[in-house]
Amino acid sequence: MNPSQPFQLALTRFKDAFGGTPRLFRAPGRINIIGEHVDYAGGKVMPAAIDYACYVAAAPNQENALHVTTDLGTARIDLNQFERQGDWRDYVAGMAFALRDAGHVVTGHNLAIASDVPMGAGVSSSAALEVAVGLALTGGQVVGPLLALIAQAAENHYVGMACGIMDQYASACAVAGHALMLDCTSLEAKQVSLPQTVCFLVIDSGVKHRHTTGGYASRRADCETAAQLLGVSLLSEVHDEAALTGLSGNPRKRARHVVSEIARTTAAQQALEAQDLVGLGRLLNQSHKSLALDMEVSTPEVDRLTALAQATHGIYGARMMGGGFGGSIIALADPALAQMAMETIVTTYAGFLGRRPDAIVVRAAAGAGEVK
Ligand code: GLA
Repeated sequence: MNPSQPFQLALTRFKDAFGGTPRLFRAPGRINIIGEHVDYAGGKVMPAAIDYACYVAAAPNQENALHVTTDLGTARIDLNQFERQGDWRDYVAGMAFALRDAGHVVTGHNLAIASDVPMGAGVSSSAALEVAVGLALTGGQVVGPLLALIAQAAENHYVGMACGIMDQYASACAVAGHALMLDCTSLEAKQVSLPQTVCFLVIDSGVKHRHTTGGYASRRADCETAAQLLGVSLLSEVHDEAALTGLSGNPRKRARHVVSEIARTTAAQQALEAQDLVGLGRLLNQSHKSLALDMEVSTPEVDRLTALAQATHGIYGARMMGGGFGGSIIALADPALAQMAMETIVTTYAGFLGRRPDAIVVRAAAGAGEVK
């Protein structure tokens, strides 16, 4: 067993800090194949969980407090009153308080946390942390969509990031080997089997994002303004770009992205079911263009990396992934050519970045659960 594996680290850390025998819970990060900046507008998204995860070793203690030890430091979190700290502690404390808000009993726990989900790279390390902590604090009693909704509430109300449901849902509910086709209005989800003939590259642009500041919230606000002007409660109720002619400026551009991205996501599901990877790749490329020009959430570095990937042999399509303003791109690859393609992209982009960017090949892994 490799001691640097995060699950092993979580267990060792627990033993060193607290002693005794904990239970171990795991929640993965996610990729999003397509359906970007549409979850908060009620649209359809197609994420999958990845084989990089956050592990929490946990056991109850006799106090009304969480004792936490992580890669990022240690903390004592008082459960009598929430106090925002502006760092990783807010995700842990936020989850405890959001569980209580939802009517669950949360008592004191000792928690040891270790994760190999890259941070600030757009693969939802924070959702993985929230979901894993949620499982740990409820002894695995709160799971699935309910756990995802509580984790989203923790992020919205305690961390202060107005995210949609996609990341937490993917982490809590994904199935190995499948993409999750999620309707973010009804929360109905369908598991779509991923063919063996495709894999995903995640390549970090080297530009760190942080969504609690400005851009993400302002895009969301533009979408809400557009919906209001169109007389609908969510932009996902609009299916035709022709309906947007009465809008102007940013609300019009953002709405055009949302309406077209939802149509692309539906088309992507059909392409995936037909195993049409060339068609799926084309949709990813179109998604990037719309995110860059209409949603305006890309950066020059991310555009450059995406264009490079799109032009590389063995890549069906590529686009920026996640909230934007930096972070990673996702590229749809032929597994036989994936390593070679990744090396080409990484080497060329390193010439621009001044160092080799982080890059991983990911597989669609299982959603969160207890590790026995
Ligand atoms: C972030 C948010 C998600 C979603 C994406 C953009 O990852 O947490 O809810 O809005 O951005 O698709």
